[in-house]
Amino acid sequence: MFVFVFSISAAQSQTTLESLQCHFTWDLDRSRPKLLRLTHKMEDFSKEKGNRWLGHIYNLWGFIQYKLGLNEEANSLFQKATEALNKLRKADEGPWLVVNYGNLAWLHHHLGDQAESQAYLSKDDLHPEICAEKAWTLMFFGEDKKLVVDYYKKAARMQPKMVDWNTSYVIWLKKVKNFSDTRLDPDLLEKMRQAKERDPKNLYLAALYLEQRANKRENIRDEVCELAENVSSNRSNCSNSGMWALLNLYIEHISVDEAVKLAEKVLKEHPDVRYLKKFVALCYRWRIIYKSSSSPEQSMVDRAIALHEELLSLYPHSSLKREIDLATIYAKSHHSKAKAEQIFQKLLKNEPAEPEDKQMLYNKYANHLYFNLNDSHRSTQYHMKALYFCLQKPFIHDL
Ligand SMILES: *[C@@H]1O[C@H](CO)[C@@H](O)[C@H](O)[C@H]1NC(C)=O
Ligand SMILES: *[C@@H]1O[C@H](CO)[C@@H](O)[C@H](O)[C@H]1NC(C)=O
Ligand SMILES: *[C@@H]1O[C@H](CO)[C@@H](O)[C@H](O)[C@H]1NC(C)=O
Ligand SMILES: *[C@@H]1O[C@H](CO)[C@@H](O)[C@H](O)[C@H]1NC(C)=O
Ligand SMILES: *[C@@H]1O[C@H](CO)[C@@H](O)[C@H](O)[C@H]1NC(C)=O
Repeated sequence: MFVFVFSISAAQSQTTLESLQCHFTWDLDRSRPKLLRLTHKMEDFSKEKGNRWLGHIYNLWGFIQYKLGLNEEANSLFQKATEALNKLRKADEGPWLVVNYGNLAWLHHHLGDQAESQAYLSKDDLHPEICAEKAWTLMFFGEDKKLVVDYYKKAARMQPKMVDWNTSYVIWLKKVKNFSDTRLDPDLLEKMRQAKERDPKNLYLAALYLEQRANKRENIRDEVCELAENVSSNRSNCSNSGMWALLNLYIEHISVDEAVKLAEKVLKEHPDVRYLKKFVALCYRWRIIYKSSSSPEQSMVDRAIALHEELLSLYPHSSLKREIDLATIYAKSHHSKAKAEQIFQKLLKNEPAEPEDKQMLYNKYANHLYFNLNDSHRSTQYHMKALYFCLQKPFIHDL
């Protein structure tokens, strides 16, 4: 299956390296802060029990570490990817390892170890396994999300038995659809229903399926509650994206107070899962900031503050977003409102380097000035500053 090339000239090996299908050739460029934040995601994913993308996670995580200049970490993660793929896929060679070997060939090439690099050079066909790994990687890096759909579709077509690929294809089909048009797509709903039947434990798919039906004006309340029960009884995997989608369904279709309760309950069932702690914190924040009908009790505000403080150390590379969130909660507190302004002043003084981060900070501070301090004049000034960065390049912020 594999053709290892041990003796070719440096020039030839360069061309061969460039023709490999792997992270080094997929045009994956992001700013340093974004890469650092992605390492949080990869770490969380790697800790999900039974995550079947573990090999891909280690491959991408290793590549990110390489981009961050951490070659040893990169190497060790690529080795972990090899192990995970061998274990999960029972393949000590074969298409599952093509991307992984490509990464190792590139890494050793950059480290100046040409012999080791060439040992990893391998035959590069467009196997379904490569399509799937490319799709999975482009979920985090690609500008064009349609490509994600295309590569998953290709992989699923070539190997219909791989349920994960079909599931991911359908999930991304739903995600890239123009949301105002989804109601008019009966085909998508049917695809989702079939995929759910084939992959009943996938929480994310189940949650998106309910959302799609809600878009078609169906009442999904009972099923949303049933899905939460499925998580607690292990009938659904408590994945990162799935849990967040489920909590969003709760906020929208049941109530934000019930979402808070559910998040706390699931965290109690898995107390050392970092992302669940984040979701509890985000639900509290939602409750405190956006539910104006009843003013939050101080004990709730205190719990939200304590959780957000904890997130600062749990997710050090997302601290800007978390500190802004913390400030917006302090602004609603009964006895420490002044801390909100203090946090904002500190953040504004050490201005973040990235334009997207600057833009977010100015916008949030402008809102704080307007809604909490009734200072519309300065609020407008900060909105203008934010707009300046917005006009340079539009950004969409993820969680
Ligand atoms: C996904 O699976 C369904 C059957 O559940 C099948 O009809 C469909 O063609 C598959 N999609 C792809 C892209 O292979
Ligand atoms: C989405 O659909 C709406 C109405 O169908 C249309 O006005 C809008 O331009 C579409 N947006 C994109 C990004 O295609
Ligand atoms: C809950 O799990 C059962 C068993 O897998 C499944 O039939 C049901 O559809 C799930 N509920 C929802 C709302 O997805
Ligand atoms: C769910 O699965 C875990 C192991 O993955 C097990 O420890 C736990 O007891 C199970 N819970 C239920 C309610 O079956
Ligand atoms: C907000 O400020 C304006 C003057 O800029 C003032 O007329 C108004 O009463 C203030 N509102 C509150 C709620 O303090």
